[in-house]
Amino acid sequence: MTRMAWKFPLFVFLALASAFIMAGTGRSPAGSNASGAGRGEYRRPTETPYPDSNPYSAAKATLGRSLFYDTRISFSQTRSCASCHPPSRSWSDGLPIAQGEGASIMKLRTPTLDDIAWLPRLGWDGKFRDIESVTFGPILAPSNVHMTEGLLIERLSTLPTYAVLFSAAFPDKQINRRNIEMALATFERSIVSGVAPFDRWVEGDEAAIDEPAKRGFALFNGRANCSQCHSGWAFTDGSFHDIGVASGEEIGRGRYFPSSVKLKYAFKTPTLRDVSRRGPYMHDGSLATLQAVVDLYNKGGIDRPSRSELIKPLGLTETEKADLIAFLGTLSDEGELAAKAPAAVVREN
Ligand code: HEC
Ligand code: HEC
Repeated sequence: MTRMAWKFPLFVFLALASAFIMAGTGRSPAGSNASGAGRGEYRRPTETPYPDSNPYSAAKATLGRSLFYDTRISFSQTRSCASCHPPSRSWSDGLPIAQGEGASIMKLRTPTLDDIAWLPRLGWDGKFRDIESVTFGPILAPSNVHMTEGLLIERLSTLPTYAVLFSAAFPDKQINRRNIEMALATFERSIVSGVAPFDRWVEGDEAAIDEPAKRGFALFNGRANCSQCHSGWAFTDGSFHDIGVASGEEIGRGRYFPSSVKLKYAFKTPTLRDVSRRGPYMHDGSLATLQAVVDLYNKGGIDRPSRSELIKPLGLTETEKADLIAFLGTLSDEGELAAKAPAAVVREN
Protein backbone atom coordinates (compact mmCIF):
# COMPACT_ATOMS: atom_id res chain seq x y z
CA MET A 1 0.00 0.00 0.00
CA THR A 2 1.31 3.43 -0.81
CA ARG A 3 0.35 6.94 -0.02
CA MET A 4 1.46 10.30 -1.29
CA ALA A 5 4.37 11.91 0.52
CA TRP A 6 3.42 15.09 2.31
CA LYS A 7 5.83 17.02 0.10
CA PHE A 8 4.02 15.75 -2.97
CA PRO A 9 1.93 18.77 -3.93
CA LEU A 10 4.91 21.17 -4.05
CA PHE A 11 6.95 18.62 -5.95
CA VAL A 12 4.24 17.97 -8.50
CA PHE A 13 3.86 21.68 -8.98
CA LEU A 14 7.60 22.06 -9.65
CA ALA A 15 7.65 19.03 -11.94
CA LEU A 16 4.70 20.24 -13.95
CA ALA A 17 6.03 23.78 -14.10
CA SER A 18 9.40 22.62 -15.41
CA ALA A 19 7.83 20.15 -17.86
CA PHE A 20 5.78 23.06 -19.18
CA ILE A 21 8.86 25.25 -19.58
CA MET A 22 10.81 22.42 -21.25
CA ALA A 23 7.96 21.71 -23.65
CA GLY A 24 8.53 25.20 -24.96
CA THR A 25 12.24 24.66 -25.53
CA GLY A 26 11.93 21.17 -26.99
CA ARG A 27 14.57 19.84 -24.55
CA SER A 28 14.24 16.79 -22.39
CA PRO A 29 13.77 17.86 -18.76
CA ALA A 30 16.02 15.06 -17.52
CA GLY A 31 18.77 14.94 -20.07
CA SER A 32 21.74 12.65 -19.71
CA ASN A 33 24.89 13.97 -18.14
CA ALA A 34 28.12 13.78 -20.10
CA SER A 35 29.80 11.48 -17.60
CA GLY A 36 28.18 8.68 -15.61
CA ALA A 37 24.58 8.56 -14.48
CA GLY A 38 21.99 10.78 -16.12
CA ARG A 39 20.03 13.30 -14.15
CA GLY A 40 16.84 11.33 -14.71
CA GLU A 41 18.12 8.57 -12.44
CA TYR A 42 17.87 11.04 -9.58
CA ARG A 43 14.21 11.93 -10.05
CA ARG A 44 12.29 11.78 -6.77
CA PRO A 45 9.50 9.25 -6.31
CA THR A 46 6.03 10.66 -5.86
CA GLU A 47 4.75 8.15 -3.33
CA THR A 48 5.99 6.92 0.01
CA PRO A 49 5.96 3.14 0.43
CA TYR A 50 4.00 1.75 3.39
CA PRO A 51 4.09 -2.02 3.99
CA ASP A 52 0.93 -4.13 3.77
CA SER A 53 1.59 -5.23 7.33
CA ASN A 54 1.28 -1.62 8.53
CA PRO A 55 -0.60 0.50 5.98
CA TYR A 56 -0.86 4.26 6.36
CA SER A 57 -3.69 5.83 8.32
CA ALA A 58 -3.90 9.44 9.46
CA ALA A 59 -4.93 8.32 12.96
CA LYS A 60 -1.81 6.12 13.30
CA ALA A 61 0.43 8.95 12.06
CA THR A 62 -1.13 11.39 14.55
CA LEU A 63 -0.60 8.99 17.44
CA GLY A 64 2.95 8.24 16.23
CA ARG A 65 3.76 11.93 16.09
CA SER A 66 2.59 12.44 19.69
CA LEU A 67 4.68 9.52 20.90
CA PHE A 68 7.73 10.75 18.96
CA TYR A 69 7.74 14.10 20.78
CA ASP A 70 6.67 12.83 24.20
CA THR A 71 9.40 12.86 26.86
CA ARG A 72 7.35 10.47 29.00
CA ILE A 73 8.73 7.62 26.89
CA SER A 74 12.04 8.02 28.77
CA PHE A 75 12.56 6.81 32.32
CA SER A 76 13.59 10.28 33.52
CA GLN A 77 10.79 11.92 31.49
CA THR A 78 13.34 14.28 29.95
CA ARG A 79 14.07 12.66 26.57
CA SER A 80 11.93 11.89 23.56
CA CYS A 81 12.77 10.49 20.14
CA ALA A 82 12.92 14.11 18.98
CA SER A 83 15.66 14.94 21.51
CA CYS A 84 18.08 13.07 19.27
CA HIS A 85 16.14 13.24 16.00
CA PRO A 86 14.89 16.87 15.96
CA PRO A 87 13.49 18.14 12.65
CA SER A 88 15.37 21.42 13.18
CA ARG A 89 18.64 19.53 12.65
CA SER A 90 17.35 17.52 9.76
CA TRP A 91 16.28 14.69 12.13
CA SER A 92 19.79 14.19 13.54
CA ASP A 93 21.37 16.04 16.48
CA GLY A 94 24.63 17.66 15.44
CA LEU A 95 26.62 15.62 17.98
CA PRO A 96 29.52 13.28 17.16
CA ILE A 97 28.08 10.61 19.48
CA ALA A 98 24.46 10.42 20.70
CA GLN A 99 23.80 11.43 24.31
CA GLY A 100 21.38 9.14 26.07
CA GLU A 101 20.67 8.73 29.74
CA GLY A 102 22.17 6.24 32.14
CA ALA A 103 25.76 5.36 32.81
CA SER A 104 26.57 3.47 29.62
CA ILE A 105 27.51 5.66 26.70
CA MET A 106 26.39 5.21 23.10
CA LYS A 107 29.14 4.69 20.56
CA LEU A 108 27.32 5.87 17.47
CA ARG A 109 26.20 9.12 15.92
CA THR A 110 22.46 9.70 15.52
CA PRO A 111 21.51 9.08 11.87
CA THR A 112 18.90 11.23 10.15
CA LEU A 113 15.37 9.89 9.71
CA ASP A 114 15.02 11.53 6.27
CA ASP A 115 13.59 9.07 3.72
CA ILE A 116 13.94 5.99 5.94
CA ALA A 117 10.72 4.57 4.43
CA TRP A 118 12.89 3.53 1.47
CA LEU A 119 15.71 1.85 3.45
CA PRO A 120 15.91 -1.95 3.22
CA ARG A 121 17.68 -2.25 6.61
CA LEU A 122 18.23 0.20 9.45
CA GLY A 123 20.95 1.00 11.96
CA TRP A 124 24.58 1.75 11.06
CA ASP A 125 25.28 -1.98 11.00
CA GLY A 126 21.89 -3.06 9.63
CA LYS A 127 20.77 -4.67 12.89
CA PHE A 128 17.12 -3.62 12.35
CA ARG A 129 15.04 -5.29 9.61
CA ASP A 130 12.31 -2.62 9.52
CA ILE A 131 11.27 0.66 11.12
CA GLU A 132 8.81 -1.03 13.49
CA SER A 133 11.63 -3.13 14.94
CA VAL A 134 13.74 -0.05 15.79
CA THR A 135 11.16 1.37 18.23
CA PHE A 136 11.91 -0.61 21.38
CA GLY A 137 15.65 -0.57 20.70
CA PRO A 138 16.03 3.05 21.81
CA ILE A 139 13.20 2.80 24.35
CA LEU A 140 14.75 -0.11 26.29
CA ALA A 141 18.48 0.61 25.85
CA PRO A 142 20.11 1.78 29.10
CA SER A 143 22.34 4.04 27.02
CA ASN A 144 19.33 5.57 25.25
CA VAL A 145 16.04 6.45 27.03
CA HIS A 146 16.31 3.52 29.47
CA MET A 147 12.63 2.67 29.86
CA THR A 148 10.83 -0.60 30.54
CA GLU A 149 7.98 -1.81 28.39
CA GLY A 150 5.75 -2.27 31.46
CA LEU A 151 6.32 1.22 32.83
CA LEU A 152 5.82 2.83 29.41
CA ILE A 153 2.47 1.11 28.89
CA GLU A 154 1.45 1.91 32.46
CA ARG A 155 2.30 5.61 32.00
CA LEU A 156 0.49 5.92 28.69
CA SER A 157 -2.53 4.08 30.09
CA THR A 158 -3.09 6.73 32.76
CA LEU A 159 -3.43 9.49 30.15
CA PRO A 160 -6.92 10.04 28.71
CA THR A 161 -5.48 11.65 25.57
CA TYR A 162 -3.72 8.43 24.65
CA ALA A 163 -6.86 6.38 25.27
CA VAL A 164 -8.53 8.53 22.58
CA LEU A 165 -5.57 8.39 20.17
CA PHE A 166 -5.05 4.61 20.45
CA SER A 167 -8.82 4.00 20.05
CA ALA A 168 -8.85 6.09 16.88
CA ALA A 169 -5.76 4.37 15.45
CA PHE A 170 -6.38 0.68 16.18
CA PRO A 171 -9.54 -1.44 16.07
CA ASP A 172 -8.45 -3.29 19.23
CA LYS A 173 -7.84 0.09 20.97
CA GLN A 174 -5.00 -1.50 22.95
CA ILE A 175 -2.06 0.43 24.38
CA ASN A 176 0.52 -2.28 23.79
CA ARG A 177 3.98 -2.75 22.33
CA ARG A 178 2.85 -3.71 18.82
CA ASN A 179 0.54 -0.74 18.46
CA ILE A 180 3.21 1.68 19.75
CA GLU A 181 5.62 0.27 17.14
CA MET A 182 3.10 0.53 14.29
CA ALA A 183 2.10 4.11 15.15
CA LEU A 184 5.66 5.41 15.55
CA ALA A 185 6.72 3.70 12.31
CA THR A 186 3.79 5.23 10.41
CA PHE A 187 4.82 8.69 11.55
CA GLU A 188 8.50 8.04 10.77
CA ARG A 189 7.71 6.90 7.21
CA SER A 190 6.14 10.32 6.64
CA ILE A 191 9.54 11.98 7.24
CA VAL A 192 10.61 12.73 3.68
CA SER A 193 13.39 15.11 2.63
CA GLY A 194 12.22 18.31 0.96
CA VAL A 195 12.71 19.47 -2.62
CA ALA A 196 16.27 20.81 -3.03
CA PRO A 197 17.88 23.00 -5.73
CA PHE A 198 19.32 19.77 -7.18
CA ASP A 199 15.76 18.44 -7.72
CA ARG A 200 14.79 21.57 -9.59
CA TRP A 201 17.84 21.08 -11.80
CA VAL A 202 16.92 17.42 -12.37
CA GLU A 203 13.55 18.67 -13.54
CA GLY A 204 15.25 20.92 -16.07
CA ASP A 205 15.78 24.29 -14.37
CA GLU A 206 19.35 25.00 -15.53
CA ALA A 207 19.73 28.00 -13.23
CA ALA A 208 18.83 26.04 -10.08
CA ILE A 209 22.46 25.10 -9.37
CA ASP A 210 25.68 26.85 -10.35
CA GLU A 211 28.58 25.73 -12.56
CA PRO A 212 30.88 24.42 -9.76
CA ALA A 213 27.98 22.24 -8.51
CA LYS A 214 27.37 20.91 -12.04
CA ARG A 215 31.05 20.03 -12.34
CA GLY A 216 30.81 18.42 -8.88
CA PHE A 217 27.86 16.32 -10.09
CA ALA A 218 29.91 15.11 -13.06
CA LEU A 219 32.77 14.13 -10.73
CA PHE A 220 30.33 12.47 -8.32
CA ASN A 221 29.09 10.21 -11.12
CA GLY A 222 32.41 9.96 -12.89
CA ARG A 223 36.00 9.96 -11.70
CA ALA A 224 35.24 10.30 -7.97
CA ASN A 225 33.07 7.16 -8.04
CA CYS A 226 30.66 8.41 -5.36
CA SER A 227 27.46 7.33 -7.11
CA GLN A 228 28.58 3.69 -7.02
CA CYS A 229 27.34 3.64 -3.42
CA HIS A 230 25.43 6.93 -2.99
CA SER A 231 23.05 5.96 -5.79
CA GLY A 232 19.56 7.03 -6.80
CA TRP A 233 17.41 9.94 -5.63
CA ALA A 234 18.09 9.26 -1.91
CA PHE A 235 21.83 8.90 -2.55
CA THR A 236 22.21 5.50 -0.92
CA ASP A 237 22.37 1.92 -2.13
CA GLY A 238 21.04 0.85 1.29
CA SER A 239 24.09 -1.38 1.60
CA PHE A 240 27.20 -1.63 3.82
CA HIS A 241 30.81 -0.83 2.96
CA ASP A 242 34.16 -0.16 4.59
CA ILE A 243 35.30 3.17 3.19
CA GLY A 244 38.40 3.17 5.36
CA VAL A 245 37.14 5.37 8.18
CA ALA A 246 36.50 3.20 11.22
CA SER A 247 39.33 2.16 13.46
CA GLY A 248 37.75 1.88 16.91
CA GLU A 249 36.06 -1.13 18.48
CA GLU A 250 32.92 -0.69 16.36
CA ILE A 251 33.24 -3.10 13.45
CA GLY A 252 29.83 -2.45 11.91
CA ARG A 253 28.22 -5.24 9.94
CA GLY A 254 31.24 -7.44 10.65
CA ARG A 255 29.66 -8.14 14.03
CA TYR A 256 27.07 -10.37 12.38
CA PHE A 257 29.39 -11.89 9.77
CA PRO A 258 32.67 -12.53 11.61
CA SER A 259 34.08 -14.70 8.84
CA SER A 260 33.53 -12.08 6.14
CA VAL A 261 36.62 -10.04 5.27
CA LYS A 262 34.65 -7.36 3.45
CA LEU A 263 32.05 -6.69 6.16
CA LYS A 264 34.54 -5.84 8.88
CA TYR A 265 34.17 -2.07 9.42
CA ALA A 266 31.28 -1.96 6.93
CA PHE A 267 28.66 0.65 7.81
CA LYS A 268 25.47 1.67 6.09
CA THR A 269 25.78 4.12 3.20
CA PRO A 270 24.04 7.23 4.55
CA THR A 271 21.72 9.36 2.44
CA LEU A 272 23.33 12.61 1.25
CA ARG A 273 20.07 14.56 1.27
CA ASP A 274 20.38 17.61 3.55
CA VAL A 275 23.95 16.45 4.24
CA SER A 276 25.50 19.93 4.37
CA ARG A 277 23.50 20.73 7.51
CA ARG A 278 24.11 17.44 9.24
CA GLY A 279 27.71 17.35 10.43
CA PRO A 280 29.70 15.94 12.08
CA TYR A 281 29.88 12.96 9.73
CA MET A 282 30.28 9.17 9.69
CA HIS A 283 28.96 6.53 12.14
CA ASP A 284 31.28 7.81 14.85
CA GLY A 285 31.06 11.53 14.09
CA SER A 286 34.81 11.52 13.50
CA LEU A 287 34.84 13.96 10.58
CA ALA A 288 33.70 17.48 11.40
CA THR A 289 33.17 18.94 7.94
CA LEU A 290 32.42 17.98 4.34
CA GLN A 291 35.93 19.18 3.51
CA ALA A 292 37.31 16.52 5.87
CA VAL A 293 35.03 13.89 4.24
CA VAL A 294 36.20 14.75 0.74
CA ASP A 295 39.85 14.79 1.92
CA LEU A 296 39.37 11.28 3.32
CA TYR A 297 37.95 9.98 0.03
CA ASN A 298 40.70 11.74 -1.88
CA LYS A 299 43.31 9.86 0.17
CA GLY A 300 41.35 6.62 -0.14
CA GLY A 301 40.88 6.12 3.60
CA ILE A 302 42.69 3.44 5.54
CA ASP A 303 44.09 0.77 3.23
CA ARG A 304 43.12 -2.61 4.74
CA PRO A 305 41.67 -5.92 3.50
CA SER A 306 38.09 -4.96 4.32
CA ARG A 307 38.19 -1.67 2.40
CA SER A 308 35.83 -1.59 -0.58
CA GLU A 309 37.45 -1.96 -4.01
CA LEU A 310 35.53 1.15 -4.98
CA ILE A 311 37.62 3.26 -2.61
CA LYS A 312 41.01 4.33 -3.89
CA PRO A 313 43.07 7.53 -3.92
CA LEU A 314 41.37 9.95 -6.30
CA GLY A 315 43.99 12.61 -7.02
CA LEU A 316 41.46 15.45 -7.01
CA THR A 317 42.66 19.03 -7.30
CA GLU A 318 41.56 21.66 -4.76
CA THR A 319 39.08 23.02 -7.31
CA GLU A 320 37.62 19.57 -7.89
CA LYS A 321 37.22 19.04 -4.15
CA ALA A 322 35.45 22.39 -3.88
CA ASP A 323 33.20 21.40 -6.81
CA LEU A 324 32.18 18.18 -5.07
CA ILE A 325 31.35 20.10 -1.90
CA ALA A 326 29.37 22.65 -3.93
CA PHE A 327 27.37 19.80 -5.44
CA LEU A 328 26.67 18.27 -2.01
CA GLY A 329 25.39 21.68 -0.92
CA THR A 330 22.65 21.58 -3.57
CA LEU A 331 21.07 18.51 -1.94
CA SER A 332 19.66 20.49 1.00
CA ASP A 333 16.02 21.37 1.07
CA GLU A 334 15.48 25.12 0.78
CA GLY A 335 12.30 25.12 2.85
CA GLU A 336 12.05 26.45 6.34
CA LEU A 337 13.18 23.61 8.57
CA ALA A 338 10.78 24.78 11.24
CA ALA A 339 7.93 24.37 8.80
CA LYS A 340 8.91 20.73 8.37
CA ALA A 341 8.36 20.11 12.06
CA PRO A 342 5.10 18.24 12.35
CA ALA A 343 2.47 20.04 14.40
CA ALA A 344 2.18 20.27 18.14
CA VAL A 345 2.68 17.53 20.64
CA VAL A 346 -0.03 16.10 22.81
CA ARG A 347 1.20 17.00 26.25
CA GLU A 348 -1.91 17.76 28.29
CA ASN A 349 -3.26 14.88 30.35
C1 HEC B 1 19.84 9.24 22.78
C2 HEC B 1 19.61 9.59 21.40
C3 HEC B 1 18.50 8.85 20.66
C4 HEC B 1 17.17 8.78 21.00
C5 HEC B 1 16.49 9.36 22.24
C6 HEC B 1 16.53 8.04 19.93
N1 HEC B 1 17.44 7.70 18.97
FE1 HEC B 1 17.03 6.80 17.21
N2 HEC B 1 18.99 6.56 16.88
C7 HEC B 1 20.01 7.02 17.69
C8 HEC B 1 21.26 6.40 17.28
C9 HEC B 1 22.63 6.64 17.91
C10 HEC B 1 20.95 5.53 16.22
C11 HEC B 1 21.90 4.58 15.49
C12 HEC B 1 21.75 3.23 16.18
C13 HEC B 1 22.43 2.08 15.49
O1 HEC B 1 22.85 2.21 14.36
O2 HEC B 1 22.54 1.02 16.11
C14 HEC B 1 19.52 5.68 15.98
C15 HEC B 1 18.85 5.04 14.93
C16 HEC B 1 17.49 5.18 14.69
C17 HEC B 1 16.81 4.66 13.52
C18 HEC B 1 17.46 3.99 12.33
C19 HEC B 1 17.77 5.04 11.28
C20 HEC B 1 18.65 4.55 10.16
O3 HEC B 1 18.89 5.32 9.22
O4 HEC B 1 19.14 3.43 10.19
C21 HEC B 1 15.47 4.93 13.70
C22 HEC B 1 14.34 4.59 12.75
C23 HEC B 1 15.34 5.59 14.99
N3 HEC B 1 16.59 5.75 15.55
C24 HEC B 1 14.13 5.97 15.54
C25 HEC B 1 14.03 6.41 16.87
C26 HEC B 1 12.77 6.46 17.61
C27 HEC B 1 11.41 6.07 17.06
C28 HEC B 1 13.07 6.95 18.84
C29 HEC B 1 12.13 7.12 20.03
C30 HEC B 1 11.45 5.91 20.48
C31 HEC B 1 14.51 7.18 18.87
N4 HEC B 1 15.06 6.84 17.65
C32 HEC B 1 15.19 7.74 19.94
C33 HEC B 1 19.87 7.93 18.71
C34 HEC B 1 18.66 8.14 19.39
C1 HEC C 1 32.13 2.06 -1.38
C2 HEC C 1 30.92 2.84 -1.23
C3 HEC C 1 31.06 4.35 -1.13
C4 HEC C 1 31.65 5.21 -2.03
C5 HEC C 1 32.33 4.88 -3.34
C6 HEC C 1 31.46 6.55 -1.48
N1 HEC C 1 30.81 6.47 -0.29
FE1 HEC C 1 30.36 8.04 0.90
N2 HEC C 1 29.80 6.75 2.38
C7 HEC C 1 29.75 5.38 2.26
C8 HEC C 1 29.55 4.79 3.57
C9 HEC C 1 29.42 3.31 3.88
C10 HEC C 1 29.53 5.85 4.49
C11 HEC C 1 29.41 5.76 6.02
C12 HEC C 1 30.75 5.30 6.58
C13 HEC C 1 30.83 5.35 8.09
O1 HEC C 1 29.95 5.89 8.74
O2 HEC C 1 31.82 4.83 8.63
C14 HEC C 1 29.66 7.08 3.70
C15 HEC C 1 29.62 8.37 4.22
C16 HEC C 1 29.65 9.52 3.46
C17 HEC C 1 29.37 10.85 3.95
C18 HEC C 1 28.98 11.20 5.38
C19 HEC C 1 27.47 11.20 5.52
C20 HEC C 1 26.99 11.21 6.93
O3 HEC C 1 25.79 11.52 7.15
O4 HEC C 1 27.77 10.90 7.84
C21 HEC C 1 29.50 11.71 2.90
C22 HEC C 1 29.27 13.21 2.93
C23 HEC C 1 29.87 10.92 1.75
N3 HEC C 1 29.96 9.60 2.13
C24 HEC C 1 30.11 11.42 0.48
C25 HEC C 1 30.74 10.68 -0.51
C26 HEC C 1 31.41 11.25 -1.67
C27 HEC C 1 31.46 12.73 -1.98
C28 HEC C 1 31.94 10.21 -2.36
C29 HEC C 1 32.80 10.27 -3.60
C30 HEC C 1 34.05 11.00 -3.44
C31 HEC C 1 31.59 8.99 -1.66
N4 HEC C 1 30.89 9.31 -0.54
C32 HEC C 1 31.92 7.71 -2.07
C33 HEC C 1 29.89 4.67 1.09
C34 HEC C 1 30.54 5.16 -0.04
